[in-house]
Order: sequence, then C-alpha cells, then structure tokens
Amino acid sequence: MKIIFLLFSSFFLLSACDKYSDSKLAEGYSSLSAPKLINAENKPGGDTTVSIKPFVSFQLPAANLDNNLRPTFHAGKALANQPWVKAPTITTARDGLGPIYNARTCLSCHIKGGKGFIPTDNKTPLTSTLVRLSLLPSFSTLTKEEQATAIKKSGNIDHPVYGDQIQSQSISLAHQLRHSQKPGRIKHDVAPEAYIHINWIEKTFIYPDQHQVTLRAPEIDFQYLGYGSLGKGTVFSLRVAPMIHGMGLISLISEHDILALSDEQDENQDGISGRPNYVWDAGKQTTAMGRFGLKANKPTLDMIVAGAFANDLGINNPLAPNQPCTALQASCSNIANGNDENGFELPADLLQLVVNFNRDLAPVQRRNSHDKNVLAGRELFYQVGCNQCHNPRFTTQKSSVSAHLSEQIIWPYSDFLLHDMGPDLADGRADFLASGNEWRTPPLWGVGLLSQVNGMATLLHDGRARTVEEAILWHGGEAELAKNRFIVLEKKDRERLIAFVNSL
Ligand code: HEC
Ligand code: HEC
Repeated sequence: MKIIFLLFSSFFLLSACDKYSDSKLAEGYSSLSAPKLINAENKPGGDTTVSIKPFVSFQLPAANLDNNLRPTFHAGKALANQPWVKAPTITTARDGLGPIYNARTCLSCHIKGGKGFIPTDNKTPLTSTLVRLSLLPSFSTLTKEEQATAIKKSGNIDHPVYGDQIQSQSISLAHQLRHSQKPGRIKHDVAPEAYIHINWIEKTFIYPDQHQVTLRAPEIDFQYLGYGSLGKGTVFSLRVAPMIHGMGLISLISEHDILALSDEQDENQDGISGRPNYVWDAGKQTTAMGRFGLKANKPTLDMIVAGAFANDLGINNPLAPNQPCTALQASCSNIANGNDENGFELPADLLQLVVNFNRDLAPVQRRNSHDKNVLAGRELFYQVGCNQCHNPRFTTQKSSVSAHLSEQIIWPYSDFLLHDMGPDLADGRADFLASGNEWRTPPLWGVGLLSQVNGMATLLHDGRARTVEEAILWHGGEAELAKNRFIVLEKKDRERLIAFVNSL
C-alpha cells in the first residue's frame, strides 16, 4: 500500500499580470541601493577563504588554520568521512552504527561539504535527505505538562512509535540486501522505519513576458513502514542536507548583531518580520538562540553535530545520549550497542574532533565579481530587497579559542532569522518557536558552486529547486514582494541578478 502525503498546501497559480502592478513595485523600491563593492567581498570567509583550485569542494580547512591544528582537522574529517559499522566489531573506535540510521557517514549526506542529493524519480530511495516528523499536540496522549517539557526540550512532540526522524536504514542483513528484493516481503531482525521515495509534481510558471519555467514540488511516498501505521495527527518535514562550510564563523556572529536585524512586529512596515528561534541547549541545560539547522533549531555546533551522530548515524554520545529507537520499537532497543564504559558509542573527545572539523571548513572565494553583468545583478539584489533577509555582511567576534576565525569580515548572505515563506514552502511542522510556515534564511555563500561540488543543485529546504531562479520563484509570504519585484524585471536583468547570486 502506498501512503502519500502532500507537502504543500496549495499551488500558487500565478496569473502574473494582475498581481504585479506598478504600485506594488514602487513600495520601498527607491530606498534600497547597493553599497560600493569592496575587495573584501571576494573573500566570503575573510582570511579563512580558500581558492577554488585545484578542485571545487567545501571540505578544505580554513586557509589561515595554524599548521599545528591541521592534523586535528584531518582526524575530524576522517571521523566524518569514513563509514561507521555495527557493533560489536574489533574496530571499537568506529562501531555502534544504528541499529536504525540514515547514513554511515556525515559526508554521504553533506556531499563534499555541500548539499544532499534528492532523487529525480520515484524509483530511487531517499538517502541523503531526511524526513522529520512529530505529532500535533491535540493528537498526543501526553499530559499538558509532559507536552510542555517535550516542546521545551525537543521543539515539538515526538511520534510515539517513530520518534522525530524516519531512519530509513537498519543494520539487519535483510535490509542490506533489500535492493535485490521487493520491499515489504523481507523479514528484518531490526526493521528500518520506512522506505521513502519521492513523487514530483510539476507545474509551469509563466512570467509577464511569457517566458516559462517548470517548477517541481515533492510528495513523500512511504513505500514500506517497519513499525506499523503512522496514524492521525502526524506532520512531516522533508529536509535536504545543507552546505556545512563556514560553520565556525557563523558561531562567532554575536547575538546582538542577529537581533539587530530582527523586526518581529514589522515596525518598519516593509512586510518582513524576521525573528530568532529560541531552542534547547542540552550542553548548558538552558534555552538559547538557535542559528543552525533549517529552522534555526540548534543553538551551537556541538549540539547539531551531537544530534547528527545520534539521529542520523545512530551513534549516541554525551550531548545526545539516546539511541534512535523509541520504547515501542523493542527489536531495535534490545540490540547490542558499541557503548564504552561511560555508556556512549562516541566519547566527548571524538565528538569534539568532528565539531572542530565542521568549525574549520572554509568558504570558497567568489568568482567573476567584477563582471559587468554580475555587478549589475549585485545592484538589483539590493534594489529588489533580497538583502533584507539575505544580509550580506557580519564581523565575527573575538575568540581566544579560534584565533583564525576571530574578527573576520564575512559575507554569508543570511540574517539567521526565521521568516514566514508562505503556504507553498510550509511543512506544517513546528520546531521550537518556528511555525510550520517559517524557515531560517539560508546562507547563500557557495550556492553558485553547488552543481560543480554535487553534480546537481538541491536548493530550498527540501531540494525542490534545481536553480537559483526556481528557488526565487518559490519565495512567498514575507518574501512575496521581493519575488514580485524580481518577476517584473526584464529577462536580462533577472539573469544578471541570478549571475550575482551564482558568483557568491
Ligand atoms: C541523512 C543525512 C545526514 C547525515 C548523515 C548528516 N546530516 Fe547534517 N544535516 C542534515 C540535514 C537534513 C540538516 C538540516 C537539519 C534540520 O534542519 O533539522 C543537517 C544539518 C547539519 C548542520 C547545520 C548546517 C546549517 O546550515 O546550520 C551541520 C553542521 C551538520 N548537519 C553536520 C553533520 C555532521 C557532522 C554529521 C555526521 C555526524 C551529519 N551532519 C550527518 C542531513 C544529514
Ligand atoms: C523574507 C526574507 C527573504 C527574502 C526577501 C528573500 N529570501 Fe531567499 N530565502 C529566504 C528563506 C527563509 C529561504 C529558505 C526557504 C526554504 O528553504 O524553504 C530562502 C532561500 C533562498 C535560496 C535557496 C538557498 C539554498 O541554499 O537552498 C536562494 C537562492 C534565495 N533564497 C535567493 C533569494 C533572492 C535572489 C532573493 C531576492 C529576489 C531572496 N532570496 C529574497 C528568505 C528570503
């Protein structure tokens, strides 16, 4: 049986001409113009920036990383890049995979430090893209108090059987052989939670100048469920793995600078009301501002890496001590694990190595910044108002721990705030303060290199956009006005704006 969930509420049908009147275009338009181009913009990560030669990837260490820190970077990279195996084995340093998991390595999702892959057809199973899930509070059997604690600590209410993420792989031999067998007929000792495929629903967007673009939106297609029905009141969020370079620089942006960009009540009445997410920091046992994850659902790099080990690889650790199995998945909970004497598959010092590897991954230098079309596109980026959320520039704070990341002028093109992006991009799943409509503005540094790094660009939270143009056309909600200003540009100006984004 196929169970199909619609991820988007309705298709916005753009009968373009009546919507994009000159009066809309005029609002706030003249006040936005680009500052003068400065040389520092060529180095998105300041002194950490690496050259694109000899090969394009986002897995190089910061250019200014001290020689004596390089061996640690490479040790962390090895832990992020080499496959983990199931316990028990003789290689106790790398065992503990699963029992259920999504991938054996970090970099099989964050491919070469870039984005995850999303299948283009319904035959290929989902591997480097996650499905998160939760239960709407009105369907939960937990008491009000228990619900409040769950929401405070994990951002929403876990599905009682499947938890907060579908793990589509398991260590069972039957599963490892699955590609030669029909789903559903295999006997598992530990079943994977689901086999997930994607159906693409296409539609055509027509510009006022009649130029056409094909857009596609994903539908989740669960072809096998290992632990029974998902039941009513379950909400899903399909999330492609984001780029992971420049994370240490993002950690060092001051909260003050992020808050200065927020305008929760839209007091300047520009239709944009970015606000921070406040989330659980298990390390400090307190609520803190979120800046990592697609809904800014994690406060620190330690938290996101620890959570990735536990939930994506099934490797528990001091900051994320639980295995991915829930209490209702007995076959999963009872299996041998790779715990050390402290009860963890990954000890704190090895976790720190991977955190440091992520911290030191470098942004790549800009290309073609002086090209005349790119320069014109830069001007348009500000005029249209893309910079109102994709905030170009920050200066990192001073840090005694990471001198190489200290006081750098950086160009991530994000405000790290949540924005309502309208019903077409909504997943309907809350994540701490983020509503089902809200997403964190993603950094744009490196976006133009994705098709070289990954062989394909998978833009937006679920990878639906294959080009910058498609990504812009999906913008809605608070970004509706900027999108509309883009749509009414002449084709050659649209191409210039896109060329600028691709040069970042
Ligand atoms: C199955 C695919 C998958 C695997 C494996 C995986 N990740 Fe991720 N990663 C994601 C997704 C999806 C997100 C976005 C999470 C969210 O929004 O909830 C993410 C987010 C991140 C981020 C935050 C990026 C940002 O822009 O804020 C970092 C850093 C990261 N992962 C590092 C790691 C590390 C280190 C590992 C290995 C321990 C790992 N990931 C394993 C899919 C994966
Ligand atoms: C109101 C805030 C806002 C404005 C204005 C805005 N964006 Fe975005 N942008 C976002 C958010 C939030 C996302 C993530 C949405 C998602 O993942 O579903 C995003 C995603 C993107 C992406 C995809 C990046 C990736 O890695 O997946 C691109 C490219 C992009 N925006 C470019 C632009 C351009 C160009 C403009 C101006 C025409 C613009 N944006 C205006 C908030 C904004």
